[in-house]
Amino acid sequence: METAQLIVPPPLSRIARFEKLGFGMFLHWGLYSQLGAGEWVMLHRQMQAEQYNQLKETFTAEDFDARAWARLARAAGMRYITLTTRHHEGFSLYDTRGLSKFDALHSPAGRDLVAEFVEACRAEDIVPFLYHTTIDWQWWKDLKWPPRDGGPQFAEYLDYFHASIELLCRNYGPIGGLWFDGNWAHPEADWKEDRLYALIRKFQPEAMIINNTGLDAQGGKGHPEVDIMTFEQGLPTMPDQRGSQKYLAREMCQTMNAHWGVGADDFAYLSPRQIIENLCLSRKVGANYLLNVGPTAQGGIPQYENAALRRVGDWTARYDTILREGRPVDGTSCSGRDFILQVGRSYYYFAFNLAIKGNDHVTVNNGLAGSRQLKGLPEKIESARWIDNDEILLMNPTVENEDLLIAFTPYSYGTQLVVRVAELRPV
Ligand code: GLC
Repeated sequence: METAQLIVPPPLSRIARFEKLGFGMFLHWGLYSQLGAGEWVMLHRQMQAEQYNQLKETFTAEDFDARAWARLARAAGMRYITLTTRHHEGFSLYDTRGLSKFDALHSPAGRDLVAEFVEACRAEDIVPFLYHTTIDWQWWKDLKWPPRDGGPQFAEYLDYFHASIELLCRNYGPIGGLWFDGNWAHPEADWKEDRLYALIRKFQPEAMIINNTGLDAQGGKGHPEVDIMTFEQGLPTMPDQRGSQKYLAREMCQTMNAHWGVGADDFAYLSPRQIIENLCLSRKVGANYLLNVGPTAQGGIPQYENAALRRVGDWTARYDTILREGRPVDGTSCSGRDFILQVGRSYYYFAFNLAIKGNDHVTVNNGLAGSRQLKGLPEKIESARWIDNDEILLMNPTVENEDLLIAFTPYSYGTQLVVRVAELRPV
């Protein structure tokens, strides 16, 4: 009994598959995109539905090219996209088939944008995930959260919400997962999660079930059917899953600036460097990294995001398999943010903050040079080399039994990979 409790349960196959996707794109797009002030603009400006819903009449989606989105994700090294099929504003990008007139079919767009999205993803070998809000500001017109005591309106809303999810589960073929968001607003309500998840399992048995625990509960645990711990805007951690009923994947989602829905006056962008580092720090603990882009009013790809993602893709292309298949090695530790991953028989050392070498009159050196220690590796290492230039790295495996000392050479002026990866081959 005692020993059984110490075992980390093996991941279900859908969870293991999800972990190998590694890097994904979050797309926040809705009527709010036309105002360029983020996806909470209806609430922030206290707009009444009568006024806000006028945005439907100018929603043309004329710049939305789902194939272009999927190709961009691919170019960045991403393997999945999570699209907001309905956000808190209550507008659906999909055909609600009579459930509501507040959808893309009843706007000038006149198309089922989720159908296009799913099809484009498949054509580009990207796994489609569908985000869906659980709170809906169309139902609480005074913009208050769902009534604390539930009440008949809440029951009616849940029927509508669950019928909406049934449409998503039945009309778009197999999807990677459903990503719910909003229960954090009203944790004491009875969201009837049993009913919702049974519905998903019936029509989409292999879909991941995700339910965002929100900014205040990073990595919180929810209903037993949920497959992931969410880390909204925060680096993920590696929880001890020994003895738990089910192994859970983890995913960090993050905005590329300070908004999910496009922010016209937002300049606070992450650089390719920061994106690469955050991707690595997610993989360090075996978590996925879901990076957000807010398309323009009519669904175009914003310039900066386009360029930054393509630049990131130049880096991820070098390490694609290692990033997706690499798993953390229990009991190992490196200094600083460095870490190792294992793929097959090889280990890969991810080195952060390396120095750069060149003429003193030109190099600005704020990185570190020299040896770094790797503790706790279960095997003896025979050789180490940088993957990018095949340079062999000197090692000193004799310092204490299990610790390995590797002499990491600096970048030479002309290169700066942000995070550099060395392959370590066991004896
Ligand atoms: C938050 C916000 C929301 C955003 C989500 C993404 O919970 O309410 O606007 O979609 O996080 O993680």
